[in-house]
This record gives sequence, structure tokens and C-alpha cells, in this order.
Amino acid sequence: MTAYDLARGLHILAVIAWMAGLLFLPRLYAYDAEQAAKPEPLRGEMQALLRTWQTRLLRIIVNPAMILAWGFGLWLIHLDTVARGAAFLLEPWMLTKLAGVLLLSGWHGFLAGQRRKIAAGASRYSSRFWRMTNEVPFLLAIVMVLSVTTEWRF
Ligand code: HEM
Repeated sequence: MTAYDLARGLHILAVIAWMAGLLFLPRLYAYDAEQAAKPEPLRGEMQALLRTWQTRLLRIIVNPAMILAWGFGLWLIHLDTVARGAAFLLEPWMLTKLAGVLLLSGWHGFLAGQRRKIAAGASRYSSRFWRMTNEVPFLLAIVMVLSVTTEWRF
């Protein structure tokens, strides 16, 4: 077993957890938005429960998984650079992967900000918005995974 094999396996595991959390969080936001139509006290009770789950999912899974995915990803960049030089960082497949990573991290930041807004009762997004944007991380994942597995170039 090489350090590269270990880093790659740990990177993939962290990415799985990060993706799972990013796919589930907007569902909780959609259910939260749907409570607006319900009468009290049902609305308040359901929203309190959903907001506890939102906070826990972000703090226990999504944030740590992102840090680990980045950490193992940067370790892979280091190992790759030692093994084959830094030129791969400018190849189209790697630039595509890095662009996807930045977009995914930005989406993560947006969702984290929305959790605070929802908790303050200040989110302006509907259940429909959360359902429609739910697949954003998966679409980005398709591009990122195929970029690294194919290492495509012109
Ligand atoms: C968070 C920042 C990330 C960094 C810095 C990063 C960087 C890297 C690097 C340098 C490699 C090794 C590439 C190679 O030598 O072939 C790699 C492998 C991989 N990455 Fe990432 N990555 C990140 C996030 C992600 C995300 C979000 C996904 C999926 C959604 C992902 C999926 C993969 C997969 C599947 C591999 C293994 C590819 C293979 O072994 O052929 N990575 N990553």
C-alpha cells in the first residue's frame, strides 16, 4: 500500500460524506419552508425539530466532511506533485475538477448561510427553490469524478 492509495481512499470516503450531507440538507430546508402553511402549534414544533436536524447535520457531518475532503485532496496534490511534477495542476481535467470543487464549496457556504437565515426566520427561498436546486451537488460531482477518472485533455 502506498501513501497515495491511502490518501485516495480517505479522500473518496470524505467526499461521500460531504456529498450525502449536501444532498440531504436542502430537503430539510424544503420541509421547513412547507411548514409555513401549517397552523400553530404544529408549525412551531415541526420547525424547531427540523432546525435542530439542520444544525446537527451541518456541524456533525457536512462541515467536518468538507474539511477532510479538502485536507485529503490537498495531500493528494502534494503526493502527485512529488511523483509527477506540478504541471498536472494546469491540465484541463484538473482545472475542471478544481472549478467544480470551488463551486461545490461555494454552494456549501450558501447552504450554511441559509441555515442561519432560516433559524432567524429571514430566509426568502421557497420549498420549490430547494427542491429544484437539490441536484446541484450531484451534477457537479458527475463533472468532478469523470474529470479525475478520465484525465481528459484536448
Ligand atoms: C475539496 C477539494 C478537493 C481537492 C483539492 C481534490 C483533489 C484531488 C486530487 C489531487 C486527486 C488525485 C488526482 C489524480 O492524481 O488522479 C483527487 C482524486 C479524486 N477526487 Fe478529489 N479533490 C477535491 C474534492 C473532490 C470532490 C468534491 C469529489 C467528488 C465529488 C472528488 C472526487 C475524487 C475522486 C473520485 C478521485 C479519485 C480519482 C482516481 O483515483 O482516479 N474530489 N482529488
